[in-house]
Amino acid sequence: MKSLLITGGAGFVGSSLAILFKRYYEDLEVICLDNLSRKGSELNLPRLKAHGIHFVHGDVRNSEDLNKLNAVDWLIECSAEPSVHAGFNESPAYLINTNLNGLINCLEFLRQKGGNLIFLSTSRVYPIKALRDLPLKPQGERLVLQPSKQLGLSAEGISEAFTLEGARSLYGTTKLSGEHFIQEYCQMYHLKAVINRCGVLAGPWQMGKVDQGFMALWVAMHYFEGALNYMGFGGEGLQVRDVLHVEDLFYLLRYQMQDHNKLNAPIYNVGGGIQNSVSLRELTALVKEVTKKKCNIGSVSQTKDADIPYYVTDNSKVMAALPWQPQISVSSIVEQIYQWLHQHSSVLESVFQP
Ligand SMILES: NC(=O)c1ccc[n+]([C@@H]2O[C@H](COP(=O)([O-])OP(=O)(O)OC[C@H]3O[C@@H](n4cnc5c(N)ncnc54)[C@H](O)[C@@H]3O)[C@@H](O)[C@H]2O)c1
Repeated sequence: MKSLLITGGAGFVGSSLAILFKRYYEDLEVICLDNLSRKGSELNLPRLKAHGIHFVHGDVRNSEDLNKLNAVDWLIECSAEPSVHAGFNESPAYLINTNLNGLINCLEFLRQKGGNLIFLSTSRVYPIKALRDLPLKPQGERLVLQPSKQLGLSAEGISEAFTLEGARSLYGTTKLSGEHFIQEYCQMYHLKAVINRCGVLAGPWQMGKVDQGFMALWVAMHYFEGALNYMGFGGEGLQVRDVLHVEDLFYLLRYQMQDHNKLNAPIYNVGGGIQNSVSLRELTALVKEVTKKKCNIGSVSQTKDADIPYYVTDNSKVMAALPWQPQISVSSIVEQIYQWLHQHSSVLESVFQP
């Protein structure tokens, strides 16, 4: 691989991957394209520059912004409106134009110029009702999955065989539609691509907000002594997610890129897995221990339309295909986010506490 384009390359995942690729492959040309719509993404520009990464201010909704670029060996599509709540009680135009039309512009760029694709899809392609109907019981500080014979569900979590029947939010729909387009381009134009349905990704440089990036938000609100709420499902904070450090995602992508001749758009669920799962209450305890600060956490019992009580990734398929498994624990992720906030507190305060 000589050249890599990362769309959404000033965002959390995009900039983290760009820097990691450049660190491991010094001679690799890395180009990051971003429209800087995510608050705080502009703070990544000096980091990209310091690592010799070329930044292009552009918009995936505009095919001309992409077509100005030279051909690349790989494109990692990280640009998105990444909130599952986007489009509720507001126009879905930005979400659809960026997440779906933007991806199609990326596919057209690759069709015309060549190059392979990594697509960051989402666990939220799985329907809201099916996830809300999971057999769960409160146990201690979290919800625990009860034994079930449901297809795609096991003690490990949710696998690729889980149902896709039902509504999934417009965010999830743009991603699932994107997956279908990728499969068509692979079939029709022999594009090489891989689709990773990611659960929660986390780490330093995530500009977390209430509707997206809860790990960084949780640590930041303790650090800056702001306000937090346990929202939805009775407001008790028992809901559970698994968390994958973005560096673990990087190691996975390296394996996938080495194997690229076989990449006929396989779909993998990718996440921290059951060992790296945490409830909000458990997260509060971890964050309190690391930051030595206590945050007064309110309770909002009402559940938002797109919220789900539980998601844990069953990584069995991806772990059987490649010699990969998540390495970085939830407590280490919390510690790293805390260190990052501490080192850059003066600039980050305005992002987290406007
Ligand atoms: N972070 C997670 O937990 C998570 C989980 C599953 C999937 N994903 C996916 O991973 C990808 C990266 O997410 P992230 O967490 O880095 O989000 P992010 O918001 O930090 O990064 C997305 C970047 O895309 C840019 N962008 C938005 N609209 C654009 C447009 N029209 N043209 C060009 N750039 C645009 C934003 O400015 C931002 O810098 C997304 O596709 C997201 O759906 C993320």
